[in-house]
Amino acid sequence: MENQIHRIGVLTSGGDAPGMNAAVRAVVRTAQDCGIECVGIRRGWNGLITSDFVQLGATSVSHIIDKGGTILYTARSEEFKTPAGQERAVATCKMLGLDALIGIGGDGTFQGLLRLAERGLSVVGIPGTIDNDIACSSYTIGYDTACNTALESIDKLRDTMQSHERCSVVEVMGHRAGHLALNVGVACGATAVIVPEHPVDIENDLLEPIRRARLGGRTHFMVIVAEGVDGGAYSVGKVIEDATALDTRVTVLGHIQRGGSPSSRDRITATYMGFEAVRLLAEGKTCRVVALQGENYVDYDITEALQMSKSLDQHTYEVMRALTGVQ
Ligand code: F6P
Repeated sequence: MENQIHRIGVLTSGGDAPGMNAAVRAVVRTAQDCGIECVGIRRGWNGLITSDFVQLGATSVSHIIDKGGTILYTARSEEFKTPAGQERAVATCKMLGLDALIGIGGDGTFQGLLRLAERGLSVVGIPGTIDNDIACSSYTIGYDTACNTALESIDKLRDTMQSHERCSVVEVMGHRAGHLALNVGVACGATAVIVPEHPVDIENDLLEPIRRARLGGRTHFMVIVAEGVDGGAYSVGKVIEDATALDTRVTVLGHIQRGGSPSSRDRITATYMGFEAVRLLAEGKTCRVVALQGENYVDYDITEALQMSKSLDQHTYEVMRALTGVQ
């Protein structure tokens, strides 16, 4: 790798995701391998504004590959959205002598990187969010672990729902997108899955699958609802109870889905993405987002990446529709 870059910063921003630590570790160790110093910026963009940093060497990222959360802490910063906040961030970069910055997070993180790129800093983004809602990448760090965490809870819920012959309505995170809910629904063998990308047809998408399951002999039901659906799981639960008189319980899984030791998929993806991010900077590239497309790690211009849109995987949706209601 060529090396015009001498010192880089790395930060995590927005909602944390399992595997962010593995990405930080890969950035630091790859940088060291290229003779680049690494500075961790703590508490996301707020840390860049307030000069909250920690020097990172190869050993300071030992034994974090298996840890959930982010050792760098994270935050959602309102101040960084203002030009004054961005100027203060640039001043910190200058003071620390940073030639470049790697940001791990979602679209908000990439927007922030773009603002700094406009002010002359070299930047690269790494997609890290349990929502898998980054348009340019087929996969985002944390998604697999979050699916597995949700599944573990749902399997436990199923035991009690089965004993009481109840209907369970489970709300899964995902922000405005239904990727997490759809995949969790397929993987747990849900009775029905409701996602924001498809307008809900109460009869066909919810009540009829429950009826079919009942006719097939089921006495308990598992309905998965994405948090982005209007009214969320509580409104879906009420519709079910009113229409079927089934004893219904609503569970909002919430932030538990963001925790836990990252799965092998998240550790490996994070490691490759961290490596690629440093490689791009070392090759003199800037304003890029590392992404996964199929089996390949690729990169996009941040502006282009932010303009892309991602739809729900239609094939997975069709598979879900074919299989639900006949559990
Ligand atoms: O983007 C990750 C995510 O967990 C979303 O699924 C969710 O809508 C949001 O963050 C919750 O954010 P916060 O932790 O700020 O409540």
